Amino acid sequence: MTSASYPALRLRRTRAAAWSRALVAETVLAPADLIWPLFITEGEGVEEPIASLPGVSRWSVDLIRDRAREARELGIPCIALFPNTPPGLRSTDAREALNPDNLICRAVRAAKEAAPEVGVLTDVALDPYTAHGHDGLVDDAGYVLNDDTVDVLVNQALVQAEAGADIVAPSDMMDGRVGRIRSALEQAGHVNVQIMAYAAKYASAFYGPFRDAVGSRGLLKGDKKSYQMDPANAEEALREVALDLAEGADTVMVKPGLPYLDIVRRVKERFEVPVFAYQVSGEYAMIEAAAAAGAGDRDALVLETLMAFKRAGCSGVLTYHAAHAARLLGR
Ligand code: PBG
Repeated sequence: MTSASYPALRLRRTRAAAWSRALVAETVLAPADLIWPLFITEGEGVEEPIASLPGVSRWSVDLIRDRAREARELGIPCIALFPNTPPGLRSTDAREALNPDNLICRAVRAAKEAAPEVGVLTDVALDPYTAHGHDGLVDDAGYVLNDDTVDVLVNQALVQAEAGADIVAPSDMMDGRVGRIRSALEQAGHVNVQIMAYAAKYASAFYGPFRDAVGSRGLLKGDKKSYQMDPANAEEALREVALDLAEGADTVMVKPGLPYLDIVRRVKERFEVPVFAYQVSGEYAMIEAAAAAGAGDRDALVLETLMAFKRAGCSGVLTYHAAHAARLLGR
């Protein structure tokens, strides 16, 4: 393609000035690329900082209204809500997940009331509701039961859609759940509620601070390797994505983010559908720790990592840095 060579060709020429770098930039990062995950807690006027996620808090439902308005002002198109269910409401059957007045449903209604223009995404999985911290129902041996769990997830998704969720995002990694959820939503008339499938979700060591935030870390028995993917596998991720799309997923997600950009790229090239990545809690904590240790400039680290997701092919990124990044980027 390029026939010229040095010195006729000097690639540094277009890099020499800021105006020129702006002109030749191949990728754009904007607030519209961000989804802002927010944690919810009981009470009123409550903000609870999360120690392992410095700068991130749990908010009571009334304060979620302010966060939704803040997202709108910052040009962030969508927020993702995660509940810290009170310990007394966690059970082996996760029944609180189906309560139409549970924390997440109240938060969805509050957010949609405060800022109807902002999309609301909810997580479909049972880990904030089970007494053992797993994403599904377990048998006596502790194995997470697929089909029994899917039955509950379908109803959980319906309850969330009924509360006003715009996107339901199954993060549980059970087989067959996307198809079952899609047909239940159709039957209930929620034809425009989207499904963003956590399609390639890995059994990762980067979820620790999130589990603190939703209160499941101390409860979790064992690991999630019998349902979340092995970090060694990429072909399997493509099969997961193919299945979720065939079952009716509107968009797919890869999770965690930066360590799995190769998966993002392969999914994008193979399927040509909107792909999202979740820059998860441990990744956020890593950037904050690096900045606190003086290993790098926080703002620059945040923007560079988010740009990397766009460059790899993401339509958008779930990131705890969303509000901060949106402020840095302006509108
Ligand atoms: C639960 C869920 C997890 C995350 C999102 N949904 C944790 C897990 O699977 O254990 C992780 C997000 C993060 O670490 O920021 N189904």
